[in-house]
Amino acid sequence: MDTQQIAATVAGAGDLTALEDVRVRLLGKKGEITGMLKQLGGLAPEERAAFGAQVNALKAEAQALLDARKSELEGAAEAASLDAGWMDVTAPAPERPLGRLHPITLLLEEVIDHFTGLGFEIASGPDIEDSFHNFDALNIPKDHPARDVWDTFYTDRGEIPRTHTSSVQIRTMMNRTPPMRILAPGRVFRNETIDATHHASFHQVEGLLVDRQVSVAHLKHTLETLVDRVIGRGLKTRFRPAFYPFVEPGLDLDVSCVFCHGKGCGVCKQSGWIELIPGGLVHPNVLRACGHDPDEWQAYAFGMGFDRMVMLRYGIDDIRRLYDGRLSLVRQF
Ligand code: DAH
Repeated sequence: MDTQQIAATVAGAGDLTALEDVRVRLLGKKGEITGMLKQLGGLAPEERAAFGAQVNALKAEAQALLDARKSELEGAAEAASLDAGWMDVTAPAPERPLGRLHPITLLLEEVIDHFTGLGFEIASGPDIEDSFHNFDALNIPKDHPARDVWDTFYTDRGEIPRTHTSSVQIRTMMNRTPPMRILAPGRVFRNETIDATHHASFHQVEGLLVDRQVSVAHLKHTLETLVDRVIGRGLKTRFRPAFYPFVEPGLDLDVSCVFCHGKGCGVCKQSGWIELIPGGLVHPNVLRACGHDPDEWQAYAFGMGFDRMVMLRYGIDDIRRLYDGRLSLVRQF
């Protein structure tokens, strides 16, 4: 065996297993080069040194060739595995569907932000009410025609799925000492035939501020800044007198139509105005029913029909879209 033969054999090993076989064949206990060393004993003493040196050189050369081939094969193996695991880091990631917030939640967060910035706290009350909180304490006595304004559901036990969030005004005023400012978002229920603008369950956001010397001017300012900041900058507003048993005076805030900007269109029924938020100064009877002296404390209140606000803000023309659970709606936000 000479260097050239060894080099050829080593180069012929196509992978690491084959190379190991070659190593055993050359340098193993029964390997060819090892076998050459065993011949030493049969040589004349003066020949041994030269032959021994020759075989050792061959051995070292074989080892070096084996090592070189080994790292060559290892490099190739690594390159192959990198190749197999190759990926395009610039390729777009597979789409992962993310949850979205419902438009009612989105706008509610904005409205809550606006009012908490003005020092209002969030309050809540039960969805299932009694007649006292839903009607009586709000100056709507039993058998009074004003009760007919609300198409009320009753449970078998005579409880009322609340017809408005105004019940939270009562609960708050009875449990706290003035002054107080609260915002009460919540679900309300009416015995309505469902169509594009009516639903049997919808949302209101009630506001209540109790303090000394509260006037319509305070209410006006609060609602006007709400419209300006949350519904749409530059919209005009106006107040009209309106009747609600629990406020005196009562009024409705109108905004110039967000669709035609006051020119007149189908949505505003050619009037140029959209009725948006009812409110007023809390009736002395309501303050008294909650244990507060109306000569000392005054209050303003308002109750937004929230679905309508959401529809105006986002241009949704059918209230049923807010409740039918189709993802095509929320995916747009
Ligand atoms: N609760 C009334 C309704 O559902 C809306 C309302 C009107 C609330 C005047 C108020 C208010 O707080 O002052 O029709």
